[in-house]
Amino acid sequence: MQYAIANHQRVPITITRGKGCYLYDNHQRRYLDFMGGWCVGTVGWGNAAMAKAISQQVQQQFFTVASFILEPQERLAQTLIKLAPGKMARVYRVTSGSEAVEMAMKCARVATGKKVIISFAEVYHGHTYGAASVGSALTSGMQPGITGVEKLPLPTSADLAAKVLVQLEQRLRHKRDVAAVLTEPVWTNAGCYIPPADFFPQVQKLCRRYGVLLVMDEVACGIGRCGTLFASELWGLQPDIITLGKALTGGYATLGATLVTEAVYKKSKHIPHYSTFGWRLTDCIATLENLRLIQEQKLVQNSAKVGAYLLAQLQPLLTLRKVKMLRGQGLLIGVQFKLPLAPQIALKCYRRGLLVEFTDLFTLYLSPPLVLSRAQAKAGADIIKAACGI
Ligand SMILES: Cc1ncc(COP(=O)(O)O)c(C=O)c1O
Repeated sequence: MQYAIANHQRVPITITRGKGCYLYDNHQRRYLDFMGGWCVGTVGWGNAAMAKAISQQVQQQFFTVASFILEPQERLAQTLIKLAPGKMARVYRVTSGSEAVEMAMKCARVATGKKVIISFAEVYHGHTYGAASVGSALTSGMQPGITGVEKLPLPTSADLAAKVLVQLEQRLRHKRDVAAVLTEPVWTNAGCYIPPADFFPQVQKLCRRYGVLLVMDEVACGIGRCGTLFASELWGLQPDIITLGKALTGGYATLGATLVTEAVYKKSKHIPHYSTFGWRLTDCIATLENLRLIQEQKLVQNSAKVGAYLLAQLQPLLTLRKVKMLRGQGLLIGVQFKLPLAPQIALKCYRRGLLVEFTDLFTLYLSPPLVLSRAQAKAGADIIKAACGI
């Protein structure tokens, strides 16, 4: 009998500890971790510097309400503002990626005085009602979701991307009731789809022309995952709002962030916003240390370099008739099959000591910790190739 419920559970392995890019089960078996906690892993598991920073903070830990100024919170907000693309000026403190998306939606509506949020079909933005409504997590029994949400088709090809741009322009011209376009800059959970390079610059241009805010959900693809610190940098974007979570903490804290420009802040600052556990001090210290280590160890560059190497190691898969496409940006890689083979390939990988995820029955989804070495990338790629029959 199992009591802690998560309906994603499908791997009958009990994980007990981690070190670097490896996870260990209760029989001391070692697994190379290409799941990386679904875009969470950065500095690797069991990191000594992280443990030191957190334990130092725990020894003087206190908890108080948002009525006070707390130095680690200020330091973290300033750090994020300095690192983020565009003109981010303020940060709303939240506890998770879903909450960061909720806050982004509230800010967008309040700042523009408009109601409609346009997102993309099949893209996951979180589990809470608002995030589920703009994303893919609103199943029929949960309806109705929040109103004022419209979805564009996911542009899975250059042709479709061009059509979606036309559709977006027509919609924005039709009625001036759109508050925001809310999307990921790279569609991670939808199957690691990478848009054509001019797609988001065009979306941003349309947003500016029609007075619509551009909200980039970087909860999954942000903080080095795609080979740049923020994935919006890939396309030279200056979003009005950015959401962060996951790799922001490297898995060492429970924290998210909604970054906004000063213009958005000025219009949204009066909205009720409180999160009891949003940015506890240990979480702030852990996040600051994670960001420091990412910079010190050049993990963003490592993501770009080792990600490209891993993608190259996987290229032979394309000679197989069952493999349809390989997509990669930094250490975010999708392997798409022509048939629903992903679960059985993942199982074969587990048996060979590699943990991989699948976004749907057709697509393997790789997001190892950003500290992945070339040797580990090669070892993992060899296992995937062997599991596919090479
Ligand atoms: C793109 C994206 N946004 C938001 C979320 C929600 O984050 P959390 O699970 O921390 O609530 C996720 C989680 O997978 C995500 O991938």
